[in-house]
Amino acid sequence: MSESISITKGAAKAIAYQELLPQIEHLLHHESDLIANLANVSAVLKEAFGFFWVGFYLVQKDELVLGPFQGSLACTRIKKGRGVCGKSWENAQTILVPDVELFPEHIACSSLSRSEIVVPVFRNSVVVGVLDVDSDKINDFDQLDVQYLEKLSALISQTII
Ligand code: SME
Repeated sequence: MSESISITKGAAKAIAYQELLPQIEHLLHHESDLIANLANVSAVLKEAFGFFWVGFYLVQKDELVLGPFQGSLACTRIKKGRGVCGKSWENAQTILVPDVELFPEHIACSSLSRSEIVVPVFRNSVVVGVLDVDSDKINDFDQLDVQYLEKLSALISQTII
């Protein structure tokens, strides 16, 4: 297994994602353990983009339970339909929140989080978890993040047995 991921220093976000995704795909295809893979994906995204918090919540019965993540202490359980994560699960759709203070249902695990994107992860067309990325800057995500994080989610889906 390769132990490092390389991206061009100072590269534009689209370039950084384009460089990262094949390397993450390689990582995922060389390891079958889901937790190990989600842990590495969290680490790589945090390191590459310096996001405030990156991690996964996994569906267990009627709630999401905190999975592998990088960042500060987080809420452990989120009910379906609650918060940005629970809504993304319920609607099976990516949710981009430019300003968490303007998203009434947002669950504030940290008062430092200012914007957020949540992308569902599917297995056989059913949501099995979500990828949650938080920034301490307002309006830090855009359609590029939607596009590439959804591609990443699709790569993860392919590796879930
Ligand atoms: N803000 C999320 C909760 C998870 S934390 O941000 C890590 C939400 O509203 O669902």
